[in-house]
Amino acid sequence: MSFRLVFLFIPIAVLPICLSRLEEDASLNSTTDNNATDNCNLNNKCFHAPPELCPRADSPCRCHQLPNCSKAVVCCNVTSFQLVEGLACANVSDGNVTAVHVRNATLDTLNLSQPTWRRLKYMTITDGHIKSVTGEFTRLTSISYLNLSSNGISKFDDRSLGNLFDLRYLDVSHNNLTEVPRFKMEGAVTLDISYNPYILCSSVLDALKRAELFFSNGKQTYCSSSKTFHWFNTTEHLPLIQIIGLHELSKDCQKMNSNCLCVPSRVDLIPGKAPIFAIDVNCSNRKLKQMPTPLPPNTVSLNIANNNITSLAAVNNDISYVHLRELYADNNQITSVLPLEGSKFISNFVVLSLRNNKIDSLPTYMFSNAFDRNFFLRTVYLEKNHIHCDCNTAKNLKVWLLTKAKQIPDYKEIFCENINSPVMDLNPSTLCQSTSDWTDYVYYIITFQVLLLVGLIAKVFYDYWVFKTAGYLPWPASKMPKMPCDWLCE
Ligand SMILES: *[C@@H]1O[C@H](CO)[C@@H](O)[C@H](O)[C@H]1NC(C)=O
Ligand SMILES: *[C@@H]1O[C@H](CO)[C@@H](O)[C@H](O)[C@H]1NC(C)=O
Ligand SMILES: *[C@@H]1O[C@H](CO)[C@@H](O)[C@H](O)[C@H]1NC(C)=O
Ligand SMILES: *[C@@H]1O[C@H](CO)[C@@H](O)[C@H](O)[C@H]1NC(C)=O
Ligand SMILES: *[C@@H]1O[C@H](CO)[C@@H](O)[C@H](O)[C@H]1NC(C)=O
Ligand SMILES: *[C@@H]1O[C@H](CO)[C@@H](O)[C@H](O)[C@H]1NC(C)=O
Ligand SMILES: *[C@@H]1O[C@H](CO)[C@@H](O)[C@H](O)[C@H]1NC(C)=O
Ligand SMILES: *[C@@H]1O[C@H](CO)[C@@H](O)[C@H](O)[C@H]1NC(C)=O
Ligand SMILES: *[C@@H]1O[C@H](CO)[C@@H](O)[C@H](O)[C@H]1NC(C)=O
Ligand SMILES: *[C@@H]1O[C@H](CO)[C@@H](O)[C@H](O)[C@H]1NC(C)=O
Ligand SMILES: *[C@@H]1O[C@H](CO)[C@@H](O)[C@H](O)[C@H]1NC(C)=O
Ligand SMILES: *[C@@H]1O[C@H](CO)[C@@H](O)[C@H](O)[C@H]1NC(C)=O
Repeated sequence: MSFRLVFLFIPIAVLPICLSRLEEDASLNSTTDNNATDNCNLNNKCFHAPPELCPRADSPCRCHQLPNCSKAVVCCNVTSFQLVEGLACANVSDGNVTAVHVRNATLDTLNLSQPTWRRLKYMTITDGHIKSVTGEFTRLTSISYLNLSSNGISKFDDRSLGNLFDLRYLDVSHNNLTEVPRFKMEGAVTLDISYNPYILCSSVLDALKRAELFFSNGKQTYCSSSKTFHWFNTTEHLPLIQIIGLHELSKDCQKMNSNCLCVPSRVDLIPGKAPIFAIDVNCSNRKLKQMPTPLPPNTVSLNIANNNITSLAAVNNDISYVHLRELYADNNQITSVLPLEGSKFISNFVVLSLRNNKIDSLPTYMFSNAFDRNFFLRTVYLEKNHIHCDCNTAKNLKVWLLTKAKQIPDYKEIFCENINSPVMDLNPSTLCQSTSDWTDYVYYIITFQVLLLVGLIAKVFYDYWVFKTAGYLPWPASKMPKMPCDWLCE
């Protein structure tokens, strides 16, 4: 709320200043028109004087007003001291000069706080060597067109350009910047950041988020992506147009999933095809009861930690989950990993994080399949889940977990739901006691039955032998009633 208020107030506060300045411009233009010799051609572009207009080398003052425009001053080949001196002898701070071009300045520091700059509308310092930029333009500085190109500048402070409410054009090309300088977001600013070989794409993206920007020399603008890459193709430099594409994409993404935060994470460059941007979606802490659907196209990472989600079914059922490689679902109420079975995710995932959920069984075959089919390490986090433990858990799951220690690094923190113990501390000899007694008993019965059978067969043969040799049947066969099959024997 307060944020919005600030932005409402700024235009109101600035309005009178802008208006007064407009009047000033109008009066200047009219005098220009009236005076044929004061032929200033300064309108709405950066002031840029060619080297021929430099003061003569033997001139005592290193700066001078242009012959055909007393409002414009040019300085050449200056050191810090010569610059201060030159600006003074060219009457720059008296308020009549609105444009300055300093060529080939060799400065240890360029001090933006100096009052000299305050009345300028066009400020240009180019083709020099500036080791550092300090201070900030003071409030009510009226600079609209600022060209600081080709000075080897590597850094601006966050607040350096913060007071330039009228800024329309900022040229910081051909420097050594790693970040896009910050400036007020009033109005639309045209920005030239071409030929800054180390400028970071993440910083360009941030600048796009902060302000409405137009780019000059966009085709020559590249940014360095070294900090934004992961496991897609790596390219050192990305063209600006792709970063703008990314920005548009993440704007769309936020519209689609208004609750979640979408961050473009990497880009897949296939020559001859439109670049594919991979998206990280962050839906953590959103009080979700179900997984978010649909995800933006090419979502590779989804964070749904700290919600009340109970089922992972969407991973398998929703088509927008096909590109997912990383799923962070810690601190939810998920009861089972079985819905993942057969999904594209389980065959391709890199990270599956299910810490502190309600998972009560681990289908080892499913994970084994996934782990065996891998080119790179897959990781599953399962700590603070309480699974149902029995003899089988103690004997088999424990061993399985040990063999998967690399893929399930927190395996020691998986607990039993029915026994107060981590799975790894289960003792098979105590847990499997009763069951082994029972199986032993079964063996005794089987042995007994086999012996009985052998005895019976032996008795039949004995009876037969006695009958053949002695001619009578021993007990109990002699007492048994005749059976129909006895006819056969007789
Ligand atoms: C017109 O230019 C002449 C010199 O070229 C100068 O003396 C005069 O003050 C200028 N007039 C105005 C109104 O600026
Ligand atoms: C001075 O005059 C020349 C030609 O007469 C013109 O090319 C140049 O742009 C003028 N300088 C300014 C600052 O208007
Ligand atoms: C800024 O200065 C550089 C270096 O002199 C020049 O090449 C460039 O055209 C200027 N930018 C604008 C917008 O005039
Ligand atoms: C600035 O230096 C260049 C190169 O040495 C020279 O050509 C030019 O005349 C110098 N200009 C001034 C005003 O000293
Ligand atoms: C820049 O100025 C220095 C003196 O301050 C001079 O030696 C040098 O030649 C100038 N360079 C250019 C390109 O004008
Ligand atoms: C600067 O102003 C003084 C008077 O305040 C004047 O004598 C001098 O000629 C001016 N210098 C230039 C370069 O206009
Ligand atoms: C500034 O310009 C005004 C008129 O345009 C003139 O009266 C005044 O003397 C000038 N100041 C300087 C220091 O040249
Ligand atoms: C920059 O200029 C301001 C005002 O002239 C001064 O107060 C400040 O100390 C200067 N800063 C540096 C680093 O020279
Ligand atoms: C430009 O910046 C890079 C990295 O920030 C640094 O390695 C390099 O030395 C800098 N070059 C110049 C000329 O300052
Ligand atoms: C990116 O990877 C694809 C295959 O996935 C390959 O065809 C393409 O050449 C790679 N692009 C670059 C710029 O390395
Ligand atoms: C996700 O968003 C939460 C705030 O909702 C934030 O605390 C967290 O750092 C974000 N995580 C990532 C990986 O961006
Ligand atoms: C989950 O739901 C329960 C009750 O339904 C609630 O108390 C708890 O705060 C919720 N947790 C989260 C992270 O939203």
